[in-house]
Amino acid sequence: MLNKTLILENTAIKQLALKNKTVVAPMTRVSTKGDGIPTQQMEKYYQRYAKGGFGLIITEGTYTDRSFSQSYPNQPGITNDKQQKGWENITHSTHAAGGKIIMQLMHAGALSQHLSNTRGPSSIQPIRRMLEGYSKKQGQYPLPQAMNLSEIDEVINGFCNAAMRAEKAGFDGIEIHAANGYLLDQFLTDYTNEREDQYGGSIENRCRLTVEIITLIKNVVSRNFIIGVRISQGKVNDFNYTWPNGLNDGEIIFTALKNAGVDYIHIASEGKGFDHGCLTRNGESLPKLAKELTGLTIIANGGLDNPNEANRILQDKHADLVALGTGALANFDWPTRLQNDITITSFNPDIFAKGVTIEAQFKWEESTNAE
Ligand SMILES: Cc1cc2nc3c(=O)[nH]c(=O)nc-3n(C[C@H](O)[C@H](O)[C@H](O)COP(=O)(O)O)c2cc1C
Repeated sequence: MLNKTLILENTAIKQLALKNKTVVAPMTRVSTKGDGIPTQQMEKYYQRYAKGGFGLIITEGTYTDRSFSQSYPNQPGITNDKQQKGWENITHSTHAAGGKIIMQLMHAGALSQHLSNTRGPSSIQPIRRMLEGYSKKQGQYPLPQAMNLSEIDEVINGFCNAAMRAEKAGFDGIEIHAANGYLLDQFLTDYTNEREDQYGGSIENRCRLTVEIITLIKNVVSRNFIIGVRISQGKVNDFNYTWPNGLNDGEIIFTALKNAGVDYIHIASEGKGFDHGCLTRNGESLPKLAKELTGLTIIANGGLDNPNEANRILQDKHADLVALGTGALANFDWPTRLQNDITITSFNPDIFAKGVTIEAQFKWEESTNAE
C-alpha cells in the first residue's frame, strides 16, 4: 500500500539535510545562448522545482573543460567566472526557495554532438545515431581519437576545477556523470574501451579514471561538500546494455566508488523504467547490492514518478532516494501534489515537439494551459 510518509519524510545525505526523498534527475536542456552561461530562464526553471517541494535538485550535465567535454551546443558549462556567476544566481534562488542543489559534471567523450573532433578511451565508432532535438548535428557519431595520458590528465583537472567552481558558486555538492554512455561510462564499458594501459583491461582499470577524479576532487573541496556519482548500465546510444557479469561487476564498481570516497551512488535507468535499467540480466537489483555493500546513500531512477513504484523502491530497500526525470518535467511540484493528493500528470512527449529547451517547454505549457 502507498505510504506517502516514506517518500515525503525528512532525510539526509551525510550532513546535507533534505526535506524529503524526492530528487529531480539531471536533465540537459541546452538553454544557454551558446556561451555556456546559465540564464535567468534557467534560474526560474530550477527554482520552480524547489518551490514545488523536491528535496534535492540535480542540475543538467554541465561541461567541465574547454577542450573536449562539451556534449551539446547551448549546454551550460562551469569553466570560467561568468558561467560560475550564472550558476551562483541559480543556487541562491534555489536555496531561497528552500531547495538543495547539486551540479552534475559531465564530459561527453565520443558522444559529443558539439565537436567534430572528439576524444574517447579508444578510437571506436560509437554505435547508433546522435540524439534528435539537442543539436543540429545528426546521424553517425564521429570516430573519436583515443585519449593520450596528458589528455586524460586534462579531463581529471577539468573535473577538479569544475568541482571547486561549483562549491564557490554555492552548490551543495557535485555529481560526477559516469553513466549513460558518456566519457566515464565509455571507459567503464568493455566494448568502448580497448586500452592496454592502466585505464583499460580489467574492470578495476576501467573504473580507474572515475576513481581518480573522485579522489582528487575530495582533496580540493570542503569536507561537507557532497560528492556523488551517477552510474548506469544503459546508454543513450545503447538502452539495453547490461553489465556482462551482473552482480560481480556491480560489486567491483560499487566497492571502488566507495573506497574512492563518494557520499552517494545514483543508479540511472535510461528511459525504460527501474526494472529495465537497474536490474541485472538475471533480475537482481543493482541499487540494493550497492546499498548493502557500501552503506552509502543510494538514489534510484527510472519511472519513479508513479508513487506506488517510488514507494516500492524505498519500502523494499532498493534505495534511499528516488530521482524523477520526465515525471518532474511534467510535475515540477510532484512532492506537493503527492502530499495534497493532487493528480500527477503523465509525461507527454509533445513537450519536446519544438525542442528540448526550457523555452520550448514553457511555450508548450502556456499553449496547453490555454486550451
Ligand atoms: C530531456 C532529458 C535530458 C536528460 N539529460 C540528462 C543529463 O544531463 N544527465 C543525466 O545523467 N541524465 C540525463 N537524462 C536522463 C534522466 O536523468 C533520467 O535518467 C531518465 O529520464 C529516466 O528517468 P525517468 O523515467 O524518471 O524519466 C535526461 C533525460 C531527459 C528526458
